[in-house]
Amino acid sequence: MMLRQNSILSWMVGVAMATALLSGLAIFPRASSAYASADADRGKQLFEKRCTGCHSLDRNEEGPRLRGVYGRQAGKSPGFTYSAALQSSQLTWNDASLDKWLMDPDSLIPDNGMEFYVANQDERADIISYLKKLSTK
Ligand code: HEC
Repeated sequence: MMLRQNSILSWMVGVAMATALLSGLAIFPRASSAYASADADRGKQLFEKRCTGCHSLDRNEEGPRLRGVYGRQAGKSPGFTYSAALQSSQLTWNDASLDKWLMDPDSLIPDNGMEFYVANQDERADIISYLKKLSTK
């Protein structure tokens, strides 16, 4: 009986380690390659197609103006009336926070006012790379 329990235990440890290894292999190269291959020009096209219904670069519309948003604290475009949730979020927009925001705004900041998301990771990376480029030049 002792023996059997031990072998079940070591089998379970083996499965857990294999799972960790496999998910590591599966997740990390994908996450990093999305950024490594991010393309600001493709991001610009996606931005114009997906975001400009509500956002412009230099004017507040239904959403706040987005030029310079990368590296800025969330909720700080002068003259735009943000949701209380976004305004008090204390977030700074960078690769990680923008990726979460564009993937699922409500899970990053519950009760925010942006009813939109981008499901595709590569597209998010492209859009973020475009926003970043606008902030750094
Ligand atoms: C349906 C309209 C709509 C669309 C489409 C939309 N947004 Fe928004 N966005 C908003 C609104 C409204 C807010 C302000 C939310 C709040 O106050 O909670 C916002 C806020 C933001 C913010 C935070 C800005 C700040 O000053 O803190 C970012 C970044 C952002 N949007 C990026 C994007 C990007 C990139 C896209 C395209 C992929 C996009 N949004 C598409 C409506 C939209």
